[in-house]
Amino acid sequence: MVIYKTKNYTDMSRKAANIISAQVIMKPDCVLGLATGSSPLGTYKQLIDWYQTGDLDFSKVSSVNLDEYRGLSPEHEQSYRYFMNTNFFDHINIDKSRTFVPDGLTSDVERFCKDYDRLIEEVGGVDLQLLGLGHNGHIGFNEPSDAFPRNTHCVDLTPSTIDANKRFFDSEEDVPRQALTMGIRNIMMAKKIVVVVSGEDKGEALREVVCGPITPKVPGSILQLHPDVTIIADEAALSKM
Ligand code: GLP
Repeated sequence: MVIYKTKNYTDMSRKAANIISAQVIMKPDCVLGLATGSSPLGTYKQLIDWYQTGDLDFSKVSSVNLDEYRGLSPEHEQSYRYFMNTNFFDHINIDKSRTFVPDGLTSDVERFCKDYDRLIEEVGGVDLQLLGLGHNGHIGFNEPSDAFPRNTHCVDLTPSTIDANKRFFDSEEDVPRQALTMGIRNIMMAKKIVVVVSGEDKGEALREVVCGPITPKVPGSILQLHPDVTIIADEAALSKM
């Protein structure tokens, strides 16, 4: 693991965007594994800026997203498809038909999950996976559990995740109780992983991910076993190390 300490969220975002830019420049037809949430938002803004100044070309890039709430349509303002379109895809020249987000409305979950695993393989595997970190150490929506889930699956969200994400909804009751997420195997198969972490409230989770035992109780701790992980964290997030 390589850990970069940045002064603040803006610096963290710029550094992450730099690494993603390098990936896109070195391999224009790369596959990006993308995440939602407030952590990668600044990274997307920076990438949009560099696209607009003519420094980046996403026309050959494909993307696969980590997760999606179950029961939300792509048009729902809190769906992760909507998040990706409005915060990133609508502002760059990526071919939207080559951007993939799990289908939160699928009626056949088991089949959909198998198809999503296959899709990741068919696009050639993820070259660079961008990750945020949940307060309970989750990555994607892989919540703390007794075993590492391998592949794309449907998950019951924990009370801590529902609580953390209720800020985006009118009320806690509106937060979906389930999500579809890539599994730990899918994430670990990425050739390179970049994790962005900001804020003191993530400090404890980050400490456990980096310094704690590798355990499914802290899903992100599995990253210790990946050969190419870069963590970009601001001073506040590193304050508990
Ligand atoms: C969400 C997402 C994760 C994200 C995490 C942190 O529930 N499923 O992919 O990394 O929680 O979110 P944030 O960056 O908003 O703190």
